[in-house]
Amino acid sequence: MHKNALSVLAAGVTLALAPGIANSAKAGKSAHASKVVSSKQLERGRYMVLTGHCNNCHTYGYSSKQGNVPEKDWLLGSSPLGFRGPWGTTYASNLRLTVRNFTAEQWVKYAKSVKPRPPMPWWPLRDTTEQDLAAMYQYIRHLGPAGEPARDYVPPDKEPKPPYETRRLVQ
Ligand code: HEC
Repeated sequence: MHKNALSVLAAGVTLALAPGIANSAKAGKSAHASKVVSSKQLERGRYMVLTGHCNNCHTYGYSSKQGNVPEKDWLLGSSPLGFRGPWGTTYASNLRLTVRNFTAEQWVKYAKSVKPRPPMPWWPLRDTTEQDLAAMYQYIRHLGPAGEPARDYVPPDKEPKPPYETRRLVQ
């Protein structure tokens, strides 16, 4: 039992720390093998992305333009904008590149266990149903890969390049 718990934990940690090195060839193959994605699922995924506020941080300019960013530019990451606080400076990732590394099943597991640094609210993702996470995955994949990876995390003792906004965590 201990052994099982440990290997589950180890698998989770590997995924959380190294999404970029997931086997993308394998992911691509099984995405092809999976059944055709329904328009209902895409619609649901789009709705989940909108009401999950993902664009507010993962789409540059989305908050300042009050959502007025064309859909083709959604979820390409917050870069160059960083979020600076006691945790250092973080950049919301390019989710359209992230999903390329996962099958739908892997994404659901990852989304339920990943704990990125602030201000990423990971707990609502953990609490989202598997069905809705899978719909989000299909929608983000449907947008297609584009853009660049986010800027690298900057530790608290280093000065980030502008632009960044300063955030505090209410404890
Ligand atoms: C308040 C801002 C904010 C919101 C809202 C937000 N994120 Fe994030 N997210 C971030 C930041 C910043 C990071 C990078 C944190 C780090 O460097 O550890 C991140 C990281 C992530 C990661 C891990 C990195 C990766 O691409 O694998 C995932 C997955 C993710 N976010 C998904 C989502 C999804 C899906 C939503 C909407 C349901 C969402 N985020 C909403 C700010 C946000």
